[in-house]
Amino acid sequence: MPQAPSDALVFFGATGDLAYKKIFPALQAMVKRGQLHVPVIGVAKAGWTLDRLRARARESLETHGGVDGPAFDKLSALLGYVDGDYEDPATFDLLRRTLGSAKRPLHYLAIPTSLFSIVVGQLGRSGCASGGRVVAEKPFGRDLASAQALNRSLLAVFPEPAVFRIDHYLGKEPVQNLLYFRFSNSIFEPIWNRNYVDSVQITLAETFGVEGRGRLYEQMGAVRDVIENHLLQVTACLAMEAPSSGHPETMRDEKARVLEAIAPLDPETVVRGQFRGYRDEPGVAADSRVETFAAVRLEIDNWRWAGVPFFIRAGKRLPVNCTEVLVEFKAPPTSAFGEKMERPNYVRFRLGPDVAIALGVRSKAPGEAMVGQEVELLATRGTGDEMVAYERLLGDAMKGDPTLFAREDAIEAEWRIVAPILASSSPPHEYGVGTWGPVEADRLMGRSGGWAKPFDTRKAP
Ligand code: BG6
Repeated sequence: MPQAPSDALVFFGATGDLAYKKIFPALQAMVKRGQLHVPVIGVAKAGWTLDRLRARARESLETHGGVDGPAFDKLSALLGYVDGDYEDPATFDLLRRTLGSAKRPLHYLAIPTSLFSIVVGQLGRSGCASGGRVVAEKPFGRDLASAQALNRSLLAVFPEPAVFRIDHYLGKEPVQNLLYFRFSNSIFEPIWNRNYVDSVQITLAETFGVEGRGRLYEQMGAVRDVIENHLLQVTACLAMEAPSSGHPETMRDEKARVLEAIAPLDPETVVRGQFRGYRDEPGVAADSRVETFAAVRLEIDNWRWAGVPFFIRAGKRLPVNCTEVLVEFKAPPTSAFGEKMERPNYVRFRLGPDVAIALGVRSKAPGEAMVGQEVELLATRGTGDEMVAYERLLGDAMKGDPTLFAREDAIEAEWRIVAPILASSSPPHEYGVGTWGPVEADRLMGRSGGWAKPFDTRKAP
């Protein structure tokens, strides 16, 4: 159904980290592509002026992607700024006046989840919400109960079709390619199940730490920060059934269905870690038990996947920066050539920072002996800097297209899955900076032969 596009973009948290790293680059890219012509109003409580915000935008682009002269000038001209406390009704009255003749503003809440209800209530009271849309940044709530409460406060002000729950992984090109690759090639469907797949591994590794976000990170930890949302959404894309039509809701129905088939995590199959030195970060408690690493094993209780372990791990201060999925197939039942296979066949999806889809197979090494070697058939490879996720998602939200946004039922299913870990009060295992997390994470693998090292792109042919 065609939707009227938003006629202004308001972003809360304009002076924050997310705006600096992701939103300004996305806005400049949208202007450059000719997709942003409406006023863009930043809101924050920082005592800033519009000129200061423009300077911040330039600085953000200098460090994240580069300043494009003409696009930046246009973005600067579109920018507006409202400074004020989110608790103060005057901030929102001023916002309404600043919106001028705009009737369908998109409000993007790039702020901690604890502030959503206050801001949304103020948007409703001041008339800023009328005819508008809202984008809620992840994590959506802190647990199931708070996500449900948050949902109620959003729906008290905005109708469901106007609510966009962002998970930027869903806007990533390689995550979309995961779905495209699965559902546009018929050769994978017959083997994409418990009869052929041995295990699935998903790794989100980052070399950096919390980078000044210590205070915010203390309220989250790795599970709330990236597992409950990004990595469970990736799991859903890997495991869901094909949608029955191109309608956005059929895609979202299938994602929710598969997430609902995942049982709450057993604390015995969860390992939490904290990198050495985390407690010295600004804003972090000296006795913090917040995890900067988590590894979990989950199973999907349906006909396609029963018995196939899905291993997920995510951590800060690990040896490399990369997000990678490995779908490992079962080994041949016997070895016809008496050879010991190091690794069975696999499909590898590299989701970032570079992107790739590759199929791992064995082929005979030239020579007398029937001895093989591992080779990768590359389906695609790229640098991953095509349309950035935030650009795609903000553009979609402005058009009113919900396809790439998380739906409430999926989010609630995600919170149910991680609930037993959130309840855990045991201290995380300490791990050294630059290691693959606590050694305890290896025991999760059991028979499956350990975590695979993510592919080293530098060795690519
Ligand atoms: C964010 C998390 O949502 O995702 C960050 O808050 C994390 O802690 C980031 O670094 C990872 O996203 P990407 O796109 O860089 O893989």
